[in-house]
Amino acid sequence: MNKEINFTLNDELVTLSVPVHKTLLQVLREDLYLTGTKEGCNAGECGACTVMIDGKPMNSCLTLAVEVDGKNVLTVEGLAKNGELHPLQQAFLDVGAVQCGFCTPGMLMSAKAVLDEIPNPTEEQIRTGIEGNICRCTGYDRIVKAIQVAANRRSQKV
Ligand code: FES
Ligand code: FES
Repeated sequence: MNKEINFTLNDELVTLSVPVHKTLLQVLREDLYLTGTKEGCNAGECGACTVMIDGKPMNSCLTLAVEVDGKNVLTVEGLAKNGELHPLQQAFLDVGAVQCGFCTPGMLMSAKAVLDEIPNPTEEQIRTGIEGNICRCTGYDRIVKAIQVAANRRSQKV
């Protein structure tokens, strides 16, 4: 059975008929071809599929597409604006925090949620904010550093 849903995706209104059993992750990747959001565990444990729904980081593998009807969804594709990388994306590149890159999209969304809530987070607050995102490469030090760099750059601009 399908249901029509309307939601805002990366600042654009989307109307879509979706099977009621399909997850948001499946709809993003298979129907909307937004493959930046990654599928890892498909069980809510790795954070690779993290997107923001109404400003909160959520696992899109555990969210049915019909649940975002009327909501605001931001994926990694919506971070860059006017051809410019989001400050977090730039910082990840600058400090070498994109290691294999598979966890990076979800990590960026959780990092954005941290900085939206706490403009100058401590290392502990950053680590807590990304604790649902698993990186299986080389560890978290560069990722944490990148988030600190993005926060510092932003506070220097204000
Ligand atoms: S794919 Fe969603 S938490 Fe792992
Ligand atoms: S960069 Fe490879 S899993 Fe994190």
